[in-house]
Amino acid sequence: MRPQEIIATKRDGKALSDDDIVAFIDGVCDGTWADYQITALVMAMFIRGLNRREQYSITGAMLNSGTIMDFSDIDAPKGDKHSTGGVGDKTSLLIAPLAAACGVAVPMISGRGLGHTGGTLDKLESIPGFNVNLSFANFKKVLKKCGFALAGQTNEIAPADKKIYALRDATSTVPYIPLIVASIMSKKLAEGLDALVLDVKTGTGAFIPKYAETLKLAKSLCETGKTFGVNTKAIITEMNQPLGKYVGNALEVFECLKLLRGEGEEEMKPSLDLSVELTATLLVQCKIAGTMENARDKIRRALATGEALERFRKNVELQGGDPKICDKPEMLLTKGLTEVKVFAESSGYIADVDSLAIGSMVGEIGGGRQKAEDKVDHAVGYACIRMIGDRVQAGDEIGIIYCRKNQAAKVTDRLRGAYKVSREITRTTKLIRAVV
Ligand code: URA
Repeated sequence: MRPQEIIATKRDGKALSDDDIVAFIDGVCDGTWADYQITALVMAMFIRGLNRREQYSITGAMLNSGTIMDFSDIDAPKGDKHSTGGVGDKTSLLIAPLAAACGVAVPMISGRGLGHTGGTLDKLESIPGFNVNLSFANFKKVLKKCGFALAGQTNEIAPADKKIYALRDATSTVPYIPLIVASIMSKKLAEGLDALVLDVKTGTGAFIPKYAETLKLAKSLCETGKTFGVNTKAIITEMNQPLGKYVGNALEVFECLKLLRGEGEEEMKPSLDLSVELTATLLVQCKIAGTMENARDKIRRALATGEALERFRKNVELQGGDPKICDKPEMLLTKGLTEVKVFAESSGYIADVDSLAIGSMVGEIGGGRQKAEDKVDHAVGYACIRMIGDRVQAGDEIGIIYCRKNQAAKVTDRLRGAYKVSREITRTTKLIRAVV
C-alpha cells in the first residue's frame, strides 16, 4: 500500500489495518516515507483518532522497529519506573539504587530535559565524568555489577518513535493520548521488563495538567503494558508545586545524595516519600515483598544500612563518574553563583505555586533546553524554601534562584505572581492522588 492510500484511509476517518500500520512504521525506518507523509498521517491520527487495536498495533510496530533487550541471564526480576515528567522530579536517582538494594535489576533508559521539565540524563551529567552513552554490552555489565544502569535511548531502541516523536514535537501533535502511550510504552517495553511502575503527573507543572485526562493516560498506559505481558501499575501524583527542595541538575543530584546519606532537610522529604512509594509498588509487583508495608520496611532498611548509597556509589564508579561526590555531595555545587531571593508578596498561607513558571525559569537560565541541541548549564537552579500550606509573612523568603551574574537582572521579577498567598488555608497537597 502506498503512503498516500494509508494517509487517505485515516484522513477519511477509517481504521487502519495492522498491515497499514506496519507499512507506515517500516517506511519511517527505511526512509521511504517522507517527513511530510509521516506528519500528514500523524495529524490525521490526531484529528480522526485511533481505536484501541490501532494503538496497540502502533505500539507493537514501534517496539519491533528496534531491539528488545534480553536480560534473561540475570536472575533478579527486572523492573523500572517511568515518569511523565515534572519540575524537580528527581525520583529516578533514588528509586534505581533503592530498588537495586532490595533485589530488583533496574535497566533504566532515561531522557533529557525539554521545555519546563528536567531529564535524568542531564542530572547525571552534572556528576563529573559520568557517562550516559553506554553500549548495550556495557549497560548490561553495569546492571549485573550494581543492580541498576542508567543510559540514554540508543538508535537501537524504538528508532521509529525517535523519528516520529521529533516530527510530532515540531507539528503540535504531541498531546494525543494514544500516540503518547505508544511512544512511551514502545521504549519501556524494549527494556525487557517484568514490571513497570509509572508516575503519571497531574497539575500545573505536568505535561497533561487536567486530572481527568491524566487518569485516562494512566489507564491506557497500564492496559497497554498488560497487553504486552508486563505487570504495569500507574500512580497519579501531584505536580502542583516542584517536588522536594531543588530544581536544577546538580542541585537535584545533591538533594538525592543528601537523602541517601540520611542528611535530608525537611523540604526534601517529598522527594524521598514519593520515591519510597514508587519503589515499594515495584517491589510488590516484582514479588520481592508481599505487601506495601513489608516493601517500605525493606526500603527503609536499605537506606538505614547505607546499602542504597553504596549502590549509587558503585554505579557512579562503573559509569565513569567521581564517586567522591557520595562522601561530599557539596562537591556538586558551583561556588560563586548569584542568589536572587524570592519573597512573599503578602501574608497568609501559600495556596498555589506556578511550577510551570519555576520550571520554565530554570530552563531559560540554562538549566534546560528550548531546542533538543541546546547545551545545559548544570549548576543553575532554584530552591523551594516554602511549600503549599506554609504560613508566611509579607517579605519572607520563599525561594532562591541560583543563576549566573549576568542573568540576575533578567530573573529578578521572573517569579512575581508565581506564588499565591491566601488568608486561610485553602488547600493542602497530596503527593499521591490515585493508584491505577
Ligand atoms: N514522552 C514520550 O516519550 N512520548 C510522548 O509522546 C510524550 C512524552
